[in-house]
Amino acid sequence: MQEAAGRALSEHRGEQWLRSVRAVREERYDILCRPGLLSRDDETLVSLLRTDAPALVVMTPSTDRLYGKALRHSLAAHGPGADLSFMILACSEADKMTEQVLAVCRRAVEARLARRSQIVCVGGGVALDICGLAATLFRRGICQIRVPTTLIGMIDAGIGVKNGVNFDGSKSLLGSFSACEACLIDPSFLDTLPRRHLQCGLAESAKIATVCSPELFDLLDMHADGLLGPICGTLLGQTHDLIRLSIEGTLSELSLNLFERRDLFPNTYARKLDFGHTFSPYLEAASGHILLHGEAVAIDMAVSVELAYRLGVLDRATRTRVLDLIYRLGLPIHWPELRPEALRASLPSVVRHRDGALNLVLPSGIGTATFLKDLRELSLNLLTEVVQDLAEWPAKKGALDNARARR
Ligand SMILES: NC(=O)c1ccc[n+]([C@@H]2O[C@H](COP(=O)([O-])OP(=O)(O)OC[C@H]3O[C@@H](n4cnc5c(N)ncnc54)[C@H](O)[C@@H]3O)[C@@H](O)[C@H]2O)c1
Ligand SMILES: [Zn+2]
Repeated sequence: MQEAAGRALSEHRGEQWLRSVRAVREERYDILCRPGLLSRDDETLVSLLRTDAPALVVMTPSTDRLYGKALRHSLAAHGPGADLSFMILACSEADKMTEQVLAVCRRAVEARLARRSQIVCVGGGVALDICGLAATLFRRGICQIRVPTTLIGMIDAGIGVKNGVNFDGSKSLLGSFSACEACLIDPSFLDTLPRRHLQCGLAESAKIATVCSPELFDLLDMHADGLLGPICGTLLGQTHDLIRLSIEGTLSELSLNLFERRDLFPNTYARKLDFGHTFSPYLEAASGHILLHGEAVAIDMAVSVELAYRLGVLDRATRTRVLDLIYRLGLPIHWPELRPEALRASLPSVVRHRDGALNLVLPSGIGTATFLKDLRELSLNLLTEVVQDLAEWPAKKGALDNARARR
């Protein structure tokens, strides 16, 4: 049909002609929970490695220090035939940029990676983003296997199809969509994760809980204090449930429109998972990355919840419940240097990113949300009041808690 149309066109207009090409690319990847992944008797990782092409294993300095030896032993014990090269990539949010992606590509050249080669990334969200983009670019795309070692990596960065690095002062401005071959989750990596980074993961979990999963919200609410300790003994089961429910919540939303096809879905950029991700890119950048991603997300969630309450979308009790959870997880709900004018001024860039609408996610209950689409509905006055209220909230809450305790 299209060919015929093309022929007709070339006949009628001499040199001009038209051909249309259409292709559908199917993606499938597995997310597998595998406690004890690096133990000598676990062959999961090795069984995924190809024996007919070299692979590059990328770790960060901390994952190498903590897990490098076990990883090398495990790989050597089961896969003596594999042609493996290693790279230790020092990376943080402040330098999650194209230079790091190119460094991985350079190492891939040295390691003689071929089309069938794989890049295995063992690290947090920053390393996964960098390696994911490198794998997309190298030879126009080679396979990646992800082994997330942070909670954010396990429930968010490792399980979707987006990669991105910061560019020209904007968060994740350069990136790609590319699925991994497999994502292997071992919750025991969290044993060594510093508390602050664990809290950041809990912020993403609270995000999913608030807009997608009442079950997860109840779990976080019930165990908020215990979840910040080492994941052992009685809380081990809860931690595994938290990871599973968070992943299920994330995937149930992502899989609705994995590749953000706006040609197929008119509301592509009205995404519940963007809860906590409207103001946070500005907050991260404006703080010079002093605020970690999860902390910026926590502040953004607090602002959004307070806005939802003031706009009559969310009832007072639920608003307090969500703020309380964020607070009990040890996360900030306010950044003292936050200027409402600057926050408001950052939003047109969000509108550009979301194809013309703000789509600010406003929770309307636990597990449900609505979207504020029009930036003009978000006045500077309202934003200023919300920011001021959140600044005072911990003190007000403290007084309230003390009064309750005295009763
Ligand atoms: N692409 C996506 O879809 C997506 C989704 C969510 C978040 N992200 C990105 O992820 C990043 C945040 O990820 P993150 O919180 O994992 O940060 P991170 O990658 O910086 O890791 C946090 C710190 O913990 C260290 N570390 C990692 N694993 C450890 C372990 N098991 N024990 C001890 N230390 C360990 C790291 O070396 C690092 O210093 C942000 O850049 C965010 O934009 C991307
Ligand atoms: Zn996030």
